[in-house]
Order: sequence, then structure tokens, then C-alpha cells
Amino acid sequence: MKFFVDTADVAEIKALAESGLLDGVTTNPTLVAKSGRKMRDVISEICALVSGPVSAEVAATDHEGMMAEARILREIARNVTIKVPLTPDGLRTCRKLTDDGTMVNVTLCFSPAQALLAAKAGATFVSPFIGRLDDIGEHGMGLIADIMTIFRQYSYLKTEVLVASVRSPLHVVEAAKLGAHVATVPPPVLRQLFNHPLTDKGLANFLADWKKAGLSIA
Ligand code: G3P
Repeated sequence: MKFFVDTADVAEIKALAESGLLDGVTTNPTLVAKSGRKMRDVISEICALVSGPVSAEVAATDHEGMMAEARILREIARNVTIKVPLTPDGLRTCRKLTDDGTMVNVTLCFSPAQALLAAKAGATFVSPFIGRLDDIGEHGMGLIADIMTIFRQYSYLKTEVLVASVRSPLHVVEAAKLGAHVATVPPPVLRQLFNHPLTDKGLANFLADWKKAGLSIA
């Protein structure tokens, strides 16, 4: 499973990129607005830190407007992935960009039918939002299971399932068990993946024994 980080915070991305575990980055208008910086600067700096796909979302809602913004964004770096909403204009834009050789992430997916449409539009990634479905009492992970089942029926569908709106390590593990291709994870949740109390306890014991014995490797 590929790990993307879901943030526009360049300092966070730099630290996580140094871990060697980061395969890409996703941003959205809310995250870029939260950074308080210009979109072009943020995306350009992220692309210099991470060689994998970096999703940059259009703000226009009509096809021509999305294409105009996409042309600007994809000039920033070769790994920019244009993020478009799952609307008729978004999917039309997806098809055009895909045919041009540009990577596309179709976002705001909340149903298996929508995911199928994104795949048929040639999306590189489709982003089902599981946390937001859980928030309204629906079963977010059930959506991932349904999409994976559908995509496996048609080997010619190359769209990768990018699990978004991830809220916990359990979301990541459950999505991995279903074979989802990518999880985009907020930095705090990505850090939580490392944690286990027995790891901390075991390490403390090993170090205490080592110190007591007065040993050294060097
Ligand atoms: O970036 C898209 C998605 O991951 C947003 O997550 O937590 O705002 O529902 P969230």
C-alpha cells in the first residue's frame, strides 16, 4: 500500500519525507487555505520534497475553468496530479487531462457508482472519503470494499483507489486488508502508525540491560 500524506504544511511534509515512507501528497482547497500561503508556492515546494504524485485541486466548477487552472498547476512540476471533483464537468476534465498524459485524482467520491464513473473517465486515482461517511452514520470502509470488488471484475480499469478522509490507524489497516492501493493520511495519524506500548517498553528494557552490562558496539 502506498502512503500519501494529506496536508499542505510543507514543514510536516519535509519531516515525513525524510522518513523514507512517503509515496505522495494530497492537498485540497481547505488545506491550502489553512496554510495561509499561495497555492503555486505551496505546490512547488511540496513537489521539490516529494517525487511521487502531489495532488493539487482545481477551484473552478466548469470544464473550461478547470482546464485553465489545470494547465497552470501542471506546469509547476512533473509530479503534479490534478484533483477534480466528482461532477460531470470534473469527469469531462478528467478524461481530457488523462488523454493529454496528465495524472488526475477524482475527489469527493461517496458511492461505488461514482467510483466506477471516475475509472471509466480514466482517472489515475479515485478518492473515496471514508471518514465523512462514518460521520453521517454510513460505513466508510464498506465503500472501499465495494469499490475494490467492482474494480477487480475489470482488469482493464487501471484507476487506483486512494482512501481519503482517513481518521485513524485502524482505517489504514482495514483499507490495506481490502487491497486499497493508497491511503492518504493526516500527519498525526501517520505518526500514530508507529506507536505500540510494547515497542516502547521493549526498547526501554533492552537499553537498561545494555547499560547495566556496560556493553558497547563501537
Ligand atoms: O483531502 C481529502 C480528504 O482526505 C479530506 O479529509 O478529514 O477533511 O474529511 P477530511
